[in-house]
Amino acid sequence: MKELRHLMTPLDFSVEELERLFDQAGEIERHLPDFAHMCDGRILATCFYEPSTRTRLSFETAMLRLGGKIIGFADASSSSASKGESVSDTIRVISCFADICAMRHPKEGAAMVAAGRSEIPVINAGDGGHEHPTQTLTDLLTIRSLYGKLSDFTIGLCGDLKFGRTVHSLIHALIRYQGVKFIFISPPELRVPDYITELLAEKGISYEEVIRLDDCLPDLDLLYMTRVQRERFFNEEDYVRLKDFYILDKDKLSRAKQDMHILHPLPRVNEIAVDVDDDPRAAYFPQVQYGLFVRMALIMTLLDMTDDHMNHGLLRW
Ligand code: CP
Repeated sequence: MKELRHLMTPLDFSVEELERLFDQAGEIERHLPDFAHMCDGRILATCFYEPSTRTRLSFETAMLRLGGKIIGFADASSSSASKGESVSDTIRVISCFADICAMRHPKEGAAMVAAGRSEIPVINAGDGGHEHPTQTLTDLLTIRSLYGKLSDFTIGLCGDLKFGRTVHSLIHALIRYQGVKFIFISPPELRVPDYITELLAEKGISYEEVIRLDDCLPDLDLLYMTRVQRERFFNEEDYVRLKDFYILDKDKLSRAKQDMHILHPLPRVNEIAVDVDDDPRAAYFPQVQYGLFVRMALIMTLLDMTDDHMNHGLLRW
């Protein structure tokens, strides 16, 4: 039997494996109907202990578009977690029902704990303020599709860089590519964590930290906006003080390069005014579509659909 493979961080895939995944996502985008039966008879479980619109529905749509079926729960209160069941026990149970599981949890490391006890591939769909690897796959595929490359650009990451797990995962992924320059734009309270800047310094990767978006906007090839993560704040007062620190509007955008694309993992709150949505540089809704194709490719990859379509059985021990 093939080794069980999980996705906890974007670094679980080599750069070469990511290239293959993105090529596969591109094939899916171009020939969607050809993939309609790839996962016939397979089941995806979505175990979401935290709210989600895009990630959960995108995973579920991905499996349905591949011909598979879905089970799961959309919040912890409707699962036996509300009665005290551990993540370890839950995944052992889910392993009896499904072929693959996408899990979101408010605690850092929860998906890793699940993977340690699972009989099926587990995908980290966001663990607290830690990582969100499938958002990063989405972001990388979007950047590659927009620019034709994943190297030699200046990216500004703006907003809540402390709690924003999509930012942490994206930085980890981008440091493996040549010539990526990072500009971190945040209020002092929401700076990117030290363990990340220490890693960049260790690897000799160039970065700047600034507070004002206006100062660096003209230098950016790509702007990655994020919302302030209300759910991770310890008090409401701090959140209220910081929530509208950055608002990108049409007027501000006039200072940016004509080919500077804007990404956002969404949900958006106030940090991008709706008048920006019609600007051709706004890429955050197309970004959602790329997320579907890359999750389809990921499900196929983790289920090893290429080599062994028929290796399907519920008794795994
Ligand atoms: N980008 C993202 O993770 O969105 P959701 O929280 O809606 O899944």
